[in-house]
Amino acid sequence: MRKKVTIVGSGNVGATAAHWIAAKELADVVLIDILEGGPQGKALDLLQAMPIEKRDSNITGTNDYADTANSDIVIITAGIPRKPGMSRDDLLNTNFGIMKNVVEQVVAHSPNCFLIIVSNPLDAMAQAAYKLSGFPRERVIGMAGVLDSARFRTFIAQELNVSVENVTAFVLGGHGDTMVPLPRYSTVAGIPITELMSEERVKALCDRTANGGAEIVKYLKTGSAYYAPSAAAVEMTEAILKDKKKILPCAVYLQGEYGIDGLFVGVPVKLGAKGLEEIIQIKLTADEQVALNKSAAAVKELVGVIGV
Ligand code: NAI
Ligand code: 2OP
Repeated sequence: MRKKVTIVGSGNVGATAAHWIAAKELADVVLIDILEGGPQGKALDLLQAMPIEKRDSNITGTNDYADTANSDIVIITAGIPRKPGMSRDDLLNTNFGIMKNVVEQVVAHSPNCFLIIVSNPLDAMAQAAYKLSGFPRERVIGMAGVLDSARFRTFIAQELNVSVENVTAFVLGGHGDTMVPLPRYSTVAGIPITELMSEERVKALCDRTANGGAEIVKYLKTGSAYYAPSAAAVEMTEAILKDKKKILPCAVYLQGEYGIDGLFVGVPVKLGAKGLEEIIQIKLTADEQVALNKSAAAVKELVGVIGV
């Protein structure tokens, strides 16, 4: 039997995630939204691309959670996105209200699913989903680090005129201005980028990565990025569905790891059939730990506002 992935929110990120999943034939997809007609129309359109793409994923759109029953994975993208001048944090109260409603329905219909959270502000929404669902931490994972690292990898590849395939990079911390790109662990064919470019250029690329979301919002004006964010959520989905044991930076509930307790923060983890299978603890320098603590403090402040 094919796997079933529900995507809550059929807007830019949700619909594009459905596209990537179907194009890779990873699972059948249910798109659900409060908008009537939106998920149905997009799902039917995408379904009609399947004969051309030679893929057998079934894609359906709905406003009824009964159709999402027994999903293996539920990707939550419901919420409002940023507009120019807004930070991710400005979305806090609106998206928390949406998250409460969504998680209640998802848990009732797919009690054994894995939750991949995308809605912003990411770390606080992942924490809200974790607390509201009552799921173990292995089954609630936030998407941010894969996206932020992909942005960093893109900028490194451009700077050095090398294939993106040669570039690995890590970005830790919360999904906000305080995120922590780690140049020491970012490499081109195994060579740390600190050996390949000046300190000044490394810093410029780290800054551009931390502001990567805002750079796109400024161009788009009416919303935020969605191609790379949806591809990132689907990489996580694929790692779980195919039990890939893939090491990816994800927002997970820390219980003492990295000296942080009771908070969702982005760290390297292993994703496989059991969801979060391991938190990889790398040794940070004193400066990196300070930056990570500062990022965690920013998440803690938001989590405190919504009381989760
Ligand atoms: P969008 O506005 O295109 O789509 C959001 C969809 O959610 C809309 O179709 C809306 O009708 C739906 N929705 C609202 N309330 C709902 C509810 N109660 N139940 C079901 N659906 C509901 O926004 P977009 O661009 O798709 O972004 C979605 C969210 O993802 C935003 O909060 C955005 O900030 C966040 N995001 C997070 C990223 C990350 O790295 N974690 C990256 C990109 C976006
Ligand atoms: C991004 O980083 C808005 O969080 C979203 O593009």
